Amino acid sequence: MKVGIDLIHFATSDFYLGLDVFATEKNQDFDKYLIGIGQEKMSIAPPDEDIVTLSAKAAEPILAQMNRQMISAVFFATESGVDQSKSAGAFVHSLLALPNRCRVIELKHACYAGAAALQMAVNAVKANPNEQILVIAADIARYDLDTSGEATQGCGAVAMLIKADPRIVAIEPGSGYHTEDVMDFWRPNHRETALVDGKYSTKVYLNSLKAAWQHFTEVSGRSFEDIQQFCYHIPFTKMAEKAHRQLVKLAQVEQDESVTLAQIAPSQQYNRVVGNSYSASLFVGFCSLLDHQSHLDNQRVGFFSYGSGCVAEFFTGIIQTGYQAVLMTASHLQQIRERTPLTYAQYLELYHGSALTQADVTLPVYHSGPYRLVGIHEHKRHYAKTS
Ligand code: CAA
Repeated sequence: MKVGIDLIHFATSDFYLGLDVFATEKNQDFDKYLIGIGQEKMSIAPPDEDIVTLSAKAAEPILAQMNRQMISAVFFATESGVDQSKSAGAFVHSLLALPNRCRVIELKHACYAGAAALQMAVNAVKANPNEQILVIAADIARYDLDTSGEATQGCGAVAMLIKADPRIVAIEPGSGYHTEDVMDFWRPNHRETALVDGKYSTKVYLNSLKAAWQHFTEVSGRSFEDIQQFCYHIPFTKMAEKAHRQLVKLAQVEQDESVTLAQIAPSQQYNRVVGNSYSASLFVGFCSLLDHQSHLDNQRVGFFSYGSGCVAEFFTGIIQTGYQAVLMTASHLQQIRERTPLTYAQYLELYHGSALTQADVTLPVYHSGPYRLVGIHEHKRHYAKTS
């Protein structure tokens, strides 16, 4: 039985900060960002947009195409959780009017949790083919101002319907994984922003790719040549290039640099202008591949998920015949195109306004998206559907 992603849709915020504006403010050469790390823009979430509102915005177009009463579980992956106890998925479950006969859980391991949620859902459907599971990966990437990570912020949510006989990609058995207790990127409970040892984190990412790939080839029996497209976790697009170059070397493949770059270019388009979305980033990259490269029918895609701390996994999937008929490309392009650019001062206002540590606050309306965080009253978050 084939099991995998039947529908996929991503959402990002209504605002962005251009890295040209950022470079001017920081007295840096724009090329450091455009060429050096491969980023042009970063999506910025206003205070009334969080992982819950972004996720509802990502999932609704999927549910609109099916009987939402059939959703048997929501697996919600994030590292920017809004509560230490309650799953963000429970708020989303309510906003989307999902059935009460449904299991909702939040999964965390840095940027890896989205891949973990996908694999858990695939296995749950294999055990019970009647299940239709909503997997959501959503994050708002925030670092302290004037740190090396500030240029790699961003936000996004990806919703995926996992079921039997999927129309987009069937996930294959045979994963390679790697876990190691390291401190390359982390966010202690008392902090709103992540801490990172930037250069070290890139080294651990590459070492984890090597280990996960070796495990993958052993358990799956597949080689580099068996895979036609590659999607990486993309904290910034240059990282995917470094990773893919390393994989080519590791697999001892002789090919032109132009071929190496072409194997990942379609998957980098959205991330270059959205920025990092942590657990969602790999799947924003997959949406980018689907939307920017045609004739993928029956091709094998290699997915590399990396979560700092660290857990990594390499796995594959086969694109299904006729997949293009169910893509939501127009919505993805429209959201990106219609974002409002911010000045650095406006970005700072949203940045500081998003630190919601108060027990009681009513938020001004910042964005016109379909869901918003209205405020916090007696420590309880309140959301509204606005359209
Ligand atoms: N023109 C062209 N290129 C330029 C340039 C210019 N004018 N100026 C600098 N560059 C190049 C540099 O040579 C460098 O390239 P290489 O990496 O190929 O050497 C690149 O631009 C970056 O320059 P710096 O190394 O000087 O930049 P930095 O130290 O300020 O920051 C970083 C780089 C450490 C990756 C930083 O962006 C960061 O801390 N990011 C957050 C951490 C991160 O994303 N880590 C990735 C792995 S961890 C992970 O994947 C999980 C996750 O999501 C966080």
